[in-house]
Amino acid sequence: MAGVRLEGVWKRFGDVAAVKDMNLEIKDGEFMILLGPSGCGKTTTLRMISGLEEPSEGRIFIGDRLVADPEGGVFVPPKDRDIAMVFQSYALYPHMTVYDNIAFPLKLRKVPKQEVEERVREVAELLGLTDLLKRKPRELSGGQRQRVALGRAIVRKPQVFLMDEPLSNLDAKLRVKMRAELKKLQRQLGVTTIYVTHDQVEAMTMGDRVAIINYGELQQVGTPDEVYNKPANIFVGGFIGSPPMNFIDAALTEDGWVDFGEFKLKFMEDQAEVLREANLIGKEALFGIRPEDIYDAMFAQVKVPGENMAKARVEIVENLGSEKIVHLRVGDITFLGSFHSESKVKEGQEVDVVFDMKKAHVFDKKTEKAVF
Ligand SMILES: Nc1ncnc2c1ncn2[C@@H]1O[C@H](COP(=O)(O)OP(=O)(O)O)[C@@H](O)[C@H]1O
Ligand SMILES: [Mg+2]
Repeated sequence: MAGVRLEGVWKRFGDVAAVKDMNLEIKDGEFMILLGPSGCGKTTTLRMISGLEEPSEGRIFIGDRLVADPEGGVFVPPKDRDIAMVFQSYALYPHMTVYDNIAFPLKLRKVPKQEVEERVREVAELLGLTDLLKRKPRELSGGQRQRVALGRAIVRKPQVFLMDEPLSNLDAKLRVKMRAELKKLQRQLGVTTIYVTHDQVEAMTMGDRVAIINYGELQQVGTPDEVYNKPANIFVGGFIGSPPMNFIDAALTEDGWVDFGEFKLKFMEDQAEVLREANLIGKEALFGIRPEDIYDAMFAQVKVPGENMAKARVEIVENLGSEKIVHLRVGDITFLGSFHSESKVKEGQEVDVVFDMKKAHVFDKKTEKAVF
């Protein structure tokens, strides 16, 4: 096993910088997610780690071994990096059985027949494929095929797994199931895994840590809890969480208050202290709060009229069964609340809403960085 380290890695395609000064350390045995919108440079990063792509600049280590360093003239080809990749399109060999598909990488490496047999059986057992070994890919369901592709990757016992959106071709239900299976498998094997996805739910549910990328630039690296609770900037705040965080333009006027024009809210004492220290009192800022931190007052624990409450008009109610996503308006200001499933709010009515100010965020509009 081995960790992976990227130091100042750039990848340029002509004028386009697909990856910009990437510094990232993935620990031995860690499940790291690379998360970001389409085109942000996730696949390019993964391909550089695998050796399918050479960085334009910077250094890549697998374990202690330097595998790419254009300045130093170092480039270790993919087959010598001891990694295995699983892609979105996991082309299995259609004419081969499940057994032969899984055995293929071992045969390619001239592993003795006896050992091939043992390892294929072991992997099949692990993935619940034992009864399917004689079948051809076309006789399998989508989930089973994806498991065969995984089997083919893990049978070699590589030091690192690289996975590029491996579940995105599966239907929604199967994806949820495979998500849990993959996570369990990674825990069992303990192999360092770098997993690319644009799906923040996959990232949050599977990763030990999540590296969030936008326009080729690393935005934040942290545990799912950290990136959810302490987003480093506006991009991360808006990308993690569903429905997304509400952002409202605001003035941090008097000591410890946020003024939206239509209404005001009072920060917690420690938040006010941070704002004072950051010299933000009297300035414009972007206020952020998640829908799940806005309550129908009927279901709120701490209600202080004039401090953490506002009267809002209900524009739309989306009933998800487990919760109600409520589109709210105060004057020109609109935001979403994720209300308790038993909330009785109706479209067109006025409702008292409570903001859990402990969960509020403030972002500097110029730097886009979070103050808290
Ligand atoms: N071989 C290539 N030649 C030119 N541009 C490329 C190439 N590969 C990727 N890019 C560009 O680099 C950027 C990042 O692409 P990619 O890493 O595939 O993003 P992601 O996997 O996050 O969707 C995109 O703008 C893409 O068009
Ligand atoms: Mg991609």
